Amino acid sequence: MYLSYLILACTFFISYIHASPSQLQTRSDIEECLTTNNVPYAVQGSTNWTALSTPYNLRLVYVPAVITIPETPDDVSASVTCAAAAGLKVQAKGGGHSYASYSSGGQDGSLVIEMENFSSIEVDQTTFIAKVGAGQRLGNVAQAIYSQGQRALPHGTCPGVGIAGHALHGGYGYASRKWGLALDHIVALDVVLANGTQIHANSTSYPDIFYAMRGAGDSFGIATYFYLQTEAAPSSVLYVSASLASAVNDASLATSGFETLQNWTLTSPDLTANFTFNMYIDTSGTFTFTGWCMECDSTYFSSNVLPAMLAGFPAGTAAGASVQQVGWIDALTLVSNNDPLTEPLGSAYTYHDTFYAKSVVTREAQPLTSASMSSFFTYMISNRGQGPFFSIVDLYGGPGSAINVPSSDSSAYSDRDALWVFQNYGRTSNSEPPFDPAIIGLIDGLNDAITDPQPGGDFTAYLNYVDPDLNATTAAELYYGKETYDKLLGIKMDVDPSALFWNPQSIGNANASAV
Ligand SMILES: Cc1cc2nc3c(=O)[nH]c(=O)nc-3n(C[C@H](O)[C@H](O)[C@H](O)COP(=O)(O)OP(=O)(O)OC[C@H]3O[C@@H](n4cnc5c(N)ncnc54)[C@H](O)[C@@H]3O)c2cc1C
Ligand SMILES: *[C@@H]1O[C@H](CO)[C@@H](O)[C@H](O)[C@H]1NC(C)=O
Ligand SMILES: *[C@@H]1O[C@H](CO)[C@@H](O)[C@H](O)[C@H]1NC(C)=O
Ligand SMILES: *[C@@H]1O[C@H](CO)[C@@H](O)[C@H](O)[C@H]1NC(C)=O
Ligand SMILES: *[C@@H]1O[C@H](CO)[C@@H](O)[C@H](O)[C@H]1NC(C)=O
Ligand SMILES: *[C@@H]1O[C@H](CO)[C@@H](O)[C@H](O)[C@H]1NC(C)=O
Ligand SMILES: *[C@@H]1O[C@H](CO)[C@@H](O)[C@H](O)[C@H]1NC(C)=O
Ligand SMILES: *[C@@H]1O[C@H](CO)[C@@H](O)[C@H](O)[C@H]1NC(C)=O
Ligand SMILES: *[C@@H]1O[C@H](CO)[C@@H](O)[C@H](O)[C@H]1NC(C)=O
Repeated sequence: MYLSYLILACTFFISYIHASPSQLQTRSDIEECLTTNNVPYAVQGSTNWTALSTPYNLRLVYVPAVITIPETPDDVSASVTCAAAAGLKVQAKGGGHSYASYSSGGQDGSLVIEMENFSSIEVDQTTFIAKVGAGQRLGNVAQAIYSQGQRALPHGTCPGVGIAGHALHGGYGYASRKWGLALDHIVALDVVLANGTQIHANSTSYPDIFYAMRGAGDSFGIATYFYLQTEAAPSSVLYVSASLASAVNDASLATSGFETLQNWTLTSPDLTANFTFNMYIDTSGTFTFTGWCMECDSTYFSSNVLPAMLAGFPAGTAAGASVQQVGWIDALTLVSNNDPLTEPLGSAYTYHDTFYAKSVVTREAQPLTSASMSSFFTYMISNRGQGPFFSIVDLYGGPGSAINVPSSDSSAYSDRDALWVFQNYGRTSNSEPPFDPAIIGLIDGLNDAITDPQPGGDFTAYLNYVDPDLNATTAAELYYGKETYDKLLGIKMDVDPSALFWNPQSIGNANASAV
């Protein structure tokens, strides 16, 4: 029996960087306006500026003109109207984990709204809808809703990720084949619009904004509170991990393992919605399988399910797997690699990485070809020791997956026919700058290794792994597709015609005709 494989760290502990104190700026129009409206804010030179302005991804450090720290929705409205009057672009900061540092504006000189003071988490005991402040993080949300009636949500594994950016742009985790994305659990949102108006958006009230926020929230408003339909937490979870290291040096062995796994995924009655899994492979030679099965029988799983799905890997792979039966909170802790579920909010959270990532979303109707799989593994093997970089291959589709149940026009998250989602992620070895730009080429090469052998693959990309190297047109194509993008453009023209809510890939930066 192996223990679980602690391969994917959520947090990389590095020393905190201190910028040299900058000079106090003269009071500008924006400060005048914020002061008049009693909005708490910081500018360069303020006490907590470094902590407030340092992004999670130290590869992309943008310097905001001002960071507001609103305490009420009125403070958010004033932040927005003051920015509009001063000609500044606006982005909200939730957990701050944007791969492109868009929550720092995605450029220098934006107004950033740090949402840390929107932190309440209350579960209505009749509807089991949780009202959650936009400054919260996944681990705190999970614990609070569990303590209020053993409720649960599908979401990512890392406790420090913010609920806001995560749920507005997808939100995948080990419960997602059963319950869908975090986004699919948003039943309503309190939103501050570009004109400062505060609205409650749901399927019947401001339905267009409700549609657009779910998938393109960064372009349409500032969500202050989320109303999330929770689920009853399962009584037990099987946490399954296996080493695939016996196939890591041989592309044909690895390909045969993946191909058998994909065939099993598409055809086996044992793949029920309560089972979600992934593979992880990196340039140090780690290759693992991790899965999570909710309310599953451990004996049947070990004797029937695992041997069939891992049958294409070298003999002994399934027998060497670890299958642990645990409760909900313990399962969340296991997948967080024993990082604490409780995380500080806002600028008190000081974890960082220095990285570049991109994704490949494959279609259920076009399973990966063995040529693609082989090219993928060959690339990983031939780049052993380079980077470092890793790839996580998550199963989104397969029979019964709740991710693919909503129609593609029910929200701006339109990718409802995904099979696998690859996250290709390169970083510095100690997580600190400087970043070697050659890593970008390695990650581009990894994407190409997957997609080039399958020209008809119709691959897309995952919104939450935002890739800053895509231009706005390509981003619009890969994240939304023409139909969704056209619809979003129309709504953007109505509610934010001057593109107040802006980042380099926000809605409106690409022409509809080009997408
Ligand atoms: C360590 C790590 C692990 C991850 N694991 C997973 C995973 O398991 N599954 C998964 O699906 N994804 C995962 N991700 C990706 C993650 O879902 C995205 O980075 C997500 O957008 C982060 O949300 P945030 O609130 O932390 O980020 P932020 O940077 O604060 O926000 C991201 C974007 O949303 C906008 N935004 C934030 N708050 C609001 C608001 N209140 N109103 C309007 N717009 C807002 C920001 O302006 C920005 O454009 C992971 C990321 C990291 C760094
Ligand atoms: C600075 O941050 C600390 C800790 O997060 C907080 O207690 C303090 O109030 C902040 N100060 C200002 C001026 O925002
Ligand atoms: C705002 O959030 C910070 C950090 O979480 C906290 O220290 C501060 O007390 C909060 N302010 C208010 C008014 O709640
Ligand atoms: C949407 O919100 C409004 C209040 O703003 C409420 O009256 C209505 O019932 C809600 N609709 C749904 C479907 O919950
Ligand atoms: C997977 O299924 C395809 C299509 O049915 C088949 O051609 C292929 O041989 C199978 N591969 C493995 C490894 O079983
Ligand atoms: C969960 O999945 C397993 C197989 O993976 C299946 O045997 C079991 O019946 C499923 N349970 C539920 C509640 O769907
Ligand atoms: C965007 O990038 C794509 C792919 O690299 C390229 O073909 C296209 O010309 C670019 N479009 C613009 C408007 O720069
Ligand atoms: C603000 O914009 C919304 C959405 O376009 C609109 O319904 C509302 O009337 C506007 N409010 C004001 C005060 O103009
Ligand atoms: C969009 O079209 C306008 C004029 O038609 C052009 O000036 C602009 O460059 C185009 N933008 C993109 C991103 O293609």
